[in-house]
Amino acid sequence: MCGIVGYTGNKSAIDILLNGLTKLEYRGYDSSGVAVEINGQVEMYKAEGKLQNLKDVIEPVKTEVVRSTIGIGHIRWATHGAPTTINAHPHSCNCGRLVIVHNGIIENFKELKEELEAQGCVFKSQTDTETVAHLIAREFSKVKNLTEAVRIAARRIEGAYALCVIHQDVKDTIVATKRNAPLLVGIGENEYYVASDVPAIIDYTKKTVYLDDNQIVTLTPNSIKLINEYSVELPLKIETLPWEPVSLSKMGYKHYMLKEIHEQPGIIRNLLSGKIVGLDNPLNLSEVKIDKETLKHLNRVQIVACGTSLHAAMIGKYILEDFCGIAVDVEPSSEYIYRKTVTDENTLVIGVSQSGETADTITAIKQSKKKGSHILIVTNRPDSTMAREADSLISVCAGIEVSVAATKSYMAQLISFYMLAIYMAEIKNSTDKDLLIKLKKELIKLPEKTEEILSQENTVKLCARKYANAKNFVYIARGINNATALEGALKLKEISYINATGYPAGELKHGPIAMLDETLPVLSIMMKGKVYDKILSNSEEAKARNARMIALTNSTDEKLKDLFDDIIRVPDTDEYLSPILAIIPLQLLAYYIAEFLGKDVDQPRNLAKSVTVE
Ligand code: AGP
Repeated sequence: MCGIVGYTGNKSAIDILLNGLTKLEYRGYDSSGVAVEINGQVEMYKAEGKLQNLKDVIEPVKTEVVRSTIGIGHIRWATHGAPTTINAHPHSCNCGRLVIVHNGIIENFKELKEELEAQGCVFKSQTDTETVAHLIAREFSKVKNLTEAVRIAARRIEGAYALCVIHQDVKDTIVATKRNAPLLVGIGENEYYVASDVPAIIDYTKKTVYLDDNQIVTLTPNSIKLINEYSVELPLKIETLPWEPVSLSKMGYKHYMLKEIHEQPGIIRNLLSGKIVGLDNPLNLSEVKIDKETLKHLNRVQIVACGTSLHAAMIGKYILEDFCGIAVDVEPSSEYIYRKTVTDENTLVIGVSQSGETADTITAIKQSKKKGSHILIVTNRPDSTMAREADSLISVCAGIEVSVAATKSYMAQLISFYMLAIYMAEIKNSTDKDLLIKLKKELIKLPEKTEEILSQENTVKLCARKYANAKNFVYIARGINNATALEGALKLKEISYINATGYPAGELKHGPIAMLDETLPVLSIMMKGKVYDKILSNSEEAKARNARMIALTNSTDEKLKDLFDDIIRVPDTDEYLSPILAIIPLQLLAYYIAEFLGKDVDQPRNLAKSVTVE
């Protein structure tokens, strides 16, 4: 939530800042702002709404602004204070010479504000961030050293923050620090970048230093100095980013979401390569660092996650319990952290997160780590905070996901869970060997089958047009695909704002069936297997209440045409693996409905890609 970017060097800063903010738009998009130094003066430009509004504010003064070679920028997802221009970052101290941008939440801002107001500070905004600007300015007036002022002020702050600070009297210098929020420095030739995330800097450099909590970095065009909270200078751990700028472009697709949906066959192929080496050999998952004896005797598994990652975790639970005979709990991280969970050193705790920066999941992981559990992180971002907490790390390698609606990362999480469940079942010898061989054989065929689904996306597009004007949508499924129903409904809700709900089909008659009438589409996920006949009966019950019926199925039964108004077919596969194929048409359905309705597909209202606040 919120993205920050900074630049000091020998190039014009403004385009770098605006380009960086464009790349960070997925972190928030309700207001934005930049501060640059022009003729020795710090100038701020801010705008409410989308980033384009800020660009429009800057355009008339661009000839002046381009002369600046230092600046900081911010894109906001409001927490404290409405998304107005006055609350947009940067925020300044009373004299306006010191400005800051901030990502996070200052928990003790009320106490600090009272203290600062008593000392004469006048607040202009309703944000928690402004407190920090006044606090650092107060320290600067005493110590006359910006790094030191930031270091002392940071000790007073409770909560999460990534901060960038500039001061008119400290030429060409950016001071940045962080706690429980991501921040990295990009290293160029006589220039430095600082940002919340890789996309903001990847166009310029791949050389980076990730800041750890409480570290403070001071950047000028020709120098970088890293210290800890006690002023001890630290060596730089320079890393090379594994991504290419081109992977972050839309590659000709209208939206990132569509591009990311289409990347899924390649992602499955990559993830499986080197893991299944001969069907009779055990699956190779060296990422799991628990020794095999401990793994055999684990008492339980707990999986914590949010949103789409939570749905992947539900499928993880299903197959881990079925293949490994071990009790698995799945819980939203936001609930897990506020109750007394039964977690100990014999519990494997799995954190699932695309971003690796979801605040609730980070807290859940840290809590269970304290109880001695082995922490396995399944994430798309091996450079994230969560990855740094891991005892074992499965990096799902889907490539950076830009669209706020998660698609390819979900697919990669699913594949990772299948690999983990097969790996554990082989160690525990807990399931029929022939079944595992069959699943491995089938997994290898999935890239081709997902390609086949994508080649028929027009069928889904036509269906999307037909149902785009529905006010409500119900998705039903049974067994392993219950999570698919929830995920399909979440995709539709978040990008089209249509009220969509997923139900276990057997639950329909316990209440939700009362809603059904001729205006309501019911989408039945009917994959061949042990619950196929059951969901067929549940679909009959819905049809009898005049609902508009859509089937998503791998059955070729012609009789389905009598029951369903529309049928979306996917290739056949083992029931256990059917969620992998079933989700793709649902992602496409959500995409094409939202696109048809003219919604902002990649940046749906009220959302942010990375939820870094609890
Ligand atoms: C997915 O489409 C959502 N935007 C959201 O539910 C997301 O999955 C959730 O916020 C969790 O994020 P994470 O996977 O990065 O932890």
